[in-house]
Amino acid sequence: MSDSLLEEPQNLSRRNWLKMAGLGASAMSAAGFISACAQQSAEAADAIGEPDKDALAILSSNENPFGPSPKAIEAMKGELGNIYRYTYPSLVKLGEQIAAKEDVSPDEVIIANGSTPLLATFSLWAKQNDKTIITSALTYEGVPRVAEAFGVPVSYTPTKPDLGYDLEAIAAQVKPGTCVYLCNPNNPTGKTMDPAELDAFMDEFSAKVPVFVDEAYLDMADDFPAGVMTKYVRMGRPVIVARTFSKIYAMAGQRVGYALLPTDMRNEMMGYGHLSNVNKLGIVAASAALADTAYFEEMRLKTKLGREKLIAMAKDLGRPIAENPQGSFIYMDLGMNNAEFAAKMLEKGVRVVGARWSEKPEWTRICVGLDHEIEKCHAAAKDILTSI
Ligand SMILES: Cc1ncc(COP(=O)(O)O)c(C=O)c1O
Repeated sequence: MSDSLLEEPQNLSRRNWLKMAGLGASAMSAAGFISACAQQSAEAADAIGEPDKDALAILSSNENPFGPSPKAIEAMKGELGNIYRYTYPSLVKLGEQIAAKEDVSPDEVIIANGSTPLLATFSLWAKQNDKTIITSALTYEGVPRVAEAFGVPVSYTPTKPDLGYDLEAIAAQVKPGTCVYLCNPNNPTGKTMDPAELDAFMDEFSAKVPVFVDEAYLDMADDFPAGVMTKYVRMGRPVIVARTFSKIYAMAGQRVGYALLPTDMRNEMMGYGHLSNVNKLGIVAASAALADTAYFEEMRLKTKLGREKLIAMAKDLGRPIAENPQGSFIYMDLGMNNAEFAAKMLEKGVRVVGARWSEKPEWTRICVGLDHEIEKCHAAAKDILTSI
């Protein structure tokens, strides 16, 4: 499930949020809720440029709080007058730009509304081709849950004791009629796979069965581009590498992502429809963002610093985390029920993930926010965790 799909309306100011919390979620009618959100949107529009330190700190969605490249914003503004036209040829141009950057051919690229539809299409592909999907427990739901909804069997291998993917356990299940979903770095743990181990796995098993590698956060990792699996696409293996503009490029709301995959798989997946329906503003923004390498490096640094602040927070709280996280979030052992913790945090104006991964009812995922948001989260968590 896309994090966005699991979200409640965003940017609620503390005042409106408290008003709603006072009413109680169940007591509030849908109409009342929508009108509160509309009022809040108008307030937010007025407040553009002035961060509202009292606003709800949303640390539950793995969004990039530092905002998109100014060049992406300029590109969107410049395109506003052209939205009466369909996306051709700008979509083709973006495909060529991505292909050049990734060193693949343009017919090995699919652009989509974020990477979510690409993950879902892989699940559909598995259904059409009678595959079982092998993946890890405690991973991103975008492939396995959608696959299960389509009736595709999914085999979840247990994580290693450090909560990382167990590639050996996955390898042991590979046989004809299976395919594999890997998330690197994994959501929610933030753990990466060792590049050499992953390479060895891919070398052997992508020759046998299709492998989908979700690299939504890989460009945030310290050793990026280690671990990038595009070379297997170039080799013509049945490998799909998925990327997104929602994370490091801070364009979650524009819905642009892409997959790199061999042409024959691309053609098959395109046949299922719904892909390439990206909006024109998203296309030009993605194109400008991709060209803004200074912005990319700045985001890598800011994300790393934010991640370090979260790690320091967990240390101060005395709470264990999944070690060495490499995305824009940490996964923390609370020592209390995560839904209860999330509810208490919300009362203090901070949103974190509640009960989402059933494997770990006492763990939560907290993502990088602006400094004042992390500080607010730290203070709130300290209050809650020291009073249990
Ligand atoms: C690992 C992973 N893959 C894919 C996605 C889907 O993101 P989007 O559809 O915005 O590209 C997410 C969103 O949180 C994610 O965490």
